[in-house]
Amino acid sequence: MTPSEGIERFIRPDLITFGGYSARKSPETLGGKVEVPVENIIKLDANENPYGCSPRVNQALATCPDLNIYPDNGQTRLRKLLEGYTGVDAKHIVAGSGSNQLIDLVLRLFISKGDEVINCVPTFGIYRFSTELCGGTLVEVPRDENFAVNVSAIKAAISEKTKMIILANPNNPTGTITPRQDILELIDTRLPVLVDEAYYEFSGESVVPLVSQYRNLMVLRTFSKWAGLAGLRVGYGLFPPKIADYLLRIKIPYNVNVAALVAVEESLKDADYLMGRVKAIIAERGRLFGELKRMRWLTPFPSQANFILCLVLSGEAKELRQKLQDKGILVRYFDEPPLRNFIRFSVGKPEHTDALIKALQKIGG
Ligand SMILES: Cc1ncc(COP(=O)(O)O)c(C=O)c1O
Repeated sequence: MTPSEGIERFIRPDLITFGGYSARKSPETLGGKVEVPVENIIKLDANENPYGCSPRVNQALATCPDLNIYPDNGQTRLRKLLEGYTGVDAKHIVAGSGSNQLIDLVLRLFISKGDEVINCVPTFGIYRFSTELCGGTLVEVPRDENFAVNVSAIKAAISEKTKMIILANPNNPTGTITPRQDILELIDTRLPVLVDEAYYEFSGESVVPLVSQYRNLMVLRTFSKWAGLAGLRVGYGLFPPKIADYLLRIKIPYNVNVAALVAVEESLKDADYLMGRVKAIIAERGRLFGELKRMRWLTPFPSQANFILCLVLSGEAKELRQKLQDKGILVRYFDEPPLRNFIRFSVGKPEHTDALIKALQKIGG
């Protein structure tokens, strides 16, 4: 049966060949395939927090009432809590089931078939995924050899079909920061500008204080990284109030669950403790960078996030990823333009760095 005779003829033609997003493998799927028991696998492939969440979250979830009741669709309490954390009025704030959901929601609001989105590559893969799901086209503007964004090339790429500029800051997978002056230049284009600050707590740099001054600046944040809540899925965005209203209107009802709300509340009460963990990760990032630099066959790039990207100078990044996986260390490799033969290590606890360095020394270039 050809696609035109089967169920495919009812499916959107542009989605028949859609590749989807290649998400990380869960450690439990690797049982028996690696040299260590599943519980000893070291996960350095998805930029999660190696310290987990605040113990207050575990305690509160154990006695969490109201699991039989839908959460507040208007996110009133959650938005108020986020107002306290960000210092930005709740009317600017919308929360999502992870910041991924907000990336998707923002693109759905602005992008339809034929529209163009400017993307500064290499960068986070979800921007492509959600733009193409909306029927939009990504216009790729390459970063320079140190992964800095090229503002004049972005401006030159603007056409009358351009509906948005997306910028991850710090960028994933490169860890690069874009200076505020460059972001201001992008805002000056008057196009909607989406700045993804998923790793803000590791960089300390933010354009959130500018959100209330501009009608085209949107900033996304998450609790997945600094607060260790990746599994509960909670992120938020700061928007001009008009855009926040539209997003609240088009979002799926009850999109942030009751457990996530409790987890945010407890995490914010324990923010000092969590930021202590963030400081430990930043210190470990420095140590890991030094260790990687000593390896002649890897070139690490400076990072303001909780991971380090390296160019693999001898050998294949894909093979290296596999050899590390065999030893029970999961990492991410990149081998599609513009990243040819790169590997990315999330920053773990000191013992994770020790195990990674030992394995890299054993594997060699
Ligand atoms: C730049 C960037 N934005 C957003 C996300 C998604 O975060 P969340 O877990 O909040 O969906 C990630 C996750 O890796 C990321 O790297």
